Amino acid sequence: MAIDFLKYQAQTSPHPLAMKVSHAKGSYIYDEDNKAYLDFVAGVSACTLGHSHPKVVTAIKNQLDQYMHVMVYGEYIQEPAVELAKLLAKNLPNSLEKTYLTNSGTEAIEGALKLAKRATGRSQIISAKNAYHGNTMGAMSVMGFEERKRAFRPLIPNVDFITFNNEDELINITKKTACVILETIQGGAGFIEPKNHYLEKVRKRCDKVGALLILDEIQPGIGRTGKLFGFEHYNCVPDILVTGKGLGGGMPIGAFTASSKLMDLLKDNPKLGHITTFGGHPVIAAAALATLKEVTKSDLMARTLVKEQLIREHLVHPLILQIRGKGLMLAAITPSAEITNQLILGCQEEGLILFWLLFEPKAIRITPPLTISNEEIIKGCQIILSVLDKIQDNHSQSNH
Ligand SMILES: Cc1ncc(COP(=O)(O)O)c(C=O)c1O
Repeated sequence: MAIDFLKYQAQTSPHPLAMKVSHAKGSYIYDEDNKAYLDFVAGVSACTLGHSHPKVVTAIKNQLDQYMHVMVYGEYIQEPAVELAKLLAKNLPNSLEKTYLTNSGTEAIEGALKLAKRATGRSQIISAKNAYHGNTMGAMSVMGFEERKRAFRPLIPNVDFITFNNEDELINITKKTACVILETIQGGAGFIEPKNHYLEKVRKRCDKVGALLILDEIQPGIGRTGKLFGFEHYNCVPDILVTGKGLGGGMPIGAFTASSKLMDLLKDNPKLGHITTFGGHPVIAAAALATLKEVTKSDLMARTLVKEQLIREHLVHPLILQIRGKGLMLAAITPSAEITNQLILGCQEEGLILFWLLFEPKAIRITPPLTISNEEIIKGCQIILSVLDKIQDNHSQSNH
């Protein structure tokens, strides 16, 4: 199978982990030998309720028995999509009331950027250095990491970059700016939180010059930082909110949400301002609705902050220089990319799944399902510490 995996299925990762998955349940993924791996990654912040959560599985099965794809997006009334959009609105500030459902995060970013251009009649987009918003042409155009996009130029013009958390650069947002797009907490960059009321200051500047603010909550959203959306920590409401990943509870989804006034612009001049065949798919929407209900009705979000403290208390080691992030969106920083690689691969052998971040080679991703138990967290941290001890021993032996 590994040969076929490499021969027939295209990869873009030069060194795929190539674990053959047999099944997954709760906080564990099992390989073909039935070895259990404790999951500290959650499919890269996507499996909010762990693997095969019974409420999500039931919602999917029930919907499968009713209907699957019946019509392109937005023509027929399909209850799961309507209920999902309504529940999002109920949990958001009043100005964020209408949601467009897409197939992926990057497509939701495309929709949000198009809406900002359509609404303002302006073309300049301002993004942040080291930002990641997805991999289609528009989303890649606002990615703040030249090395990964150079080969794909020309991308969309009139995109400029500011430094996240540097308020002196906010003067670059002007009356020519259609929108500013930021991750609420920068992910690929290394889980960088906004500091010193930065997002409030961005909001103020956008209001002053009439630019729209898009916040990408594809990773921090849906409870991961202890609140339903990361922006709730920073006193800043965007004009357009983009979600994805964890919203689907393990199924592929994206969404952008704005006021009705803004969103309705996509109906007119031109009509069909964003279209998709499968966006809002009833089976996916049913899974997302079950996920969102569980996150908003349980105490999972509050417990996320307790779990963060548990990780911070346990992950104390000379080779962990810092732990960044919030809630269960954490990144441990080691002294070097080499140690990070050794730790991720060593933990995999010991039955713990960790992963890299996109642009920060010294970071280790710790984004377990929100449903992970305290005991599982402690067990995972102990594996990390024991692998770090071995790395440290090997290092000191090779230095003698
Ligand atoms: C902050 C952020 N934006 C956008 C995306 C793109 O989402 P997707 O991979 O679903 O297209 C991601 C995915 O990693 C992300 O983390």
